[in-house]
Amino acid sequence: MNNKIPLVNIASPAFHANPLPFYRQLRDEAPVHVLTLPDKRPLWMVSRYDDVAALLRDERIVKSPANVPQLPGEKPMKTMWIPAFMRPLTQNMLDLDGAHHARLRTLVHRVFTPKLIEQMRADVEAITHRLLDSALVQPRASTDGFDLLQAVALPLPVAVIAKILGVSADDYKKFARWANAFVGATNTLDMLTAIPNIWQLMRYFRRMIAHRKANPRDDLITALVQAQENNDKLTDDEVLAMTILLLTAGFETTVNLISSGLLTLLQHPAQLAQLREGLRGPAASRDVFVRSTIEELLRFTSPVSLGTDRYAAADIELHGITIPRGSFVGASLISANHDERRFRQPETLDLDRQDNRHLSFGNGVHYCLGAPLARLEAAIAIPAILERLPNLRLAVPAAQLQWRRSLVIRGLKALPVQA
Ligand code: HEM
Repeated sequence: MNNKIPLVNIASPAFHANPLPFYRQLRDEAPVHVLTLPDKRPLWMVSRYDDVAALLRDERIVKSPANVPQLPGEKPMKTMWIPAFMRPLTQNMLDLDGAHHARLRTLVHRVFTPKLIEQMRADVEAITHRLLDSALVQPRASTDGFDLLQAVALPLPVAVIAKILGVSADDYKKFARWANAFVGATNTLDMLTAIPNIWQLMRYFRRMIAHRKANPRDDLITALVQAQENNDKLTDDEVLAMTILLLTAGFETTVNLISSGLLTLLQHPAQLAQLREGLRGPAASRDVFVRSTIEELLRFTSPVSLGTDRYAAADIELHGITIPRGSFVGASLISANHDERRFRQPETLDLDRQDNRHLSFGNGVHYCLGAPLARLEAAIAIPAILERLPNLRLAVPAAQLQWRRSLVIRGLKALPVQA
């Protein structure tokens, strides 16, 4: 292994503040590199665009450790302990492979459709403006400032997914409280602390599932309960796991596209001015520009900086190195998105960038199911925030911003701004 590569903790807040130099060095000097994670597990990191894109499609790489073949006498692979009541949640499609994954994905595809997402446009607009209204009635929003992440970027995706699932407006506050517990949970201790909230959320959804079976409504939980393909239906546990996956995958990520996206714009005043100018243009050109802005912010910020857990189901040769069967393998999406072999001037923010095939939503069979919804939310929220807050600026120097501790997600703890 290349011992000129510095030892870093890729889950630490300090690393997330400035990850690009490290990945540039990896791509150039060690495109397959073994890192030691804080819990001492080795992670085989792949960092070049072509390798990451191929790895995400490689059938020899699996999501579930149970699908790594074992030789006679070999000990089973260690998996993380989770409380028994949470076990049904492991049967979610992001953690499954092959036919098992395909079955769940086909059933959810029948109901989580582009039409359903397009129907959310007016709701997303209304929720964004309602959140901005309440942030701006704070008497000193313009002098003392406020946290744009807590005020808009976080509650927006929670409210949108709550609405899609069919959570009633009366329950929204407690739902948001339970859901927020997931955001903090990035290590075992946090997970233990979050257990009461997770338990309540699961109980709430179990009751909703039972209720919708008897009293169908026009919402996604009813649609999931009823979804059918060739006489196949989801079990109650599978509906529960799907619901919690949609919730967590949906807001833990979108919050960061909106907040890190705005931070990026505030740090690039010329591009921000170009965007403000574009927002004043005719509707058709405005839409095209907003679309390319969101794609560039997706690439630049890479809210899911590392693909989720994967394992080598066979020995895999790459760049003359063998990744042994059973290894924990990391696909760095943020590195792929900044690979100079694929993108021209990747560290420059170019809101007009053409040929922007970033990997922020992954690649292959696990490609993000919610990509159209995430794009819709960001394409409404970011322009609305900029239009409503013409003097938007950071309330603290960028160096003082704090990043969350996480292996997979790259996101701010807060985005203090003045309006
Ligand atoms: C900016 C926002 C988002 C980003 C950057 C993002 C990113 C990703 C990525 C990278 C993956 C693949 C992970 C892997 O292969 O390891 C993924 C999968 C997934 N995402 Fe998203 N996501 C976002 C928003 C959403 C939303 C809004 C939803 C739904 C409400 C959603 C639902 C899912 C689901 C269900 C999967 C698993 C798909 C499968 O296993 O087949 N995501 N997402």
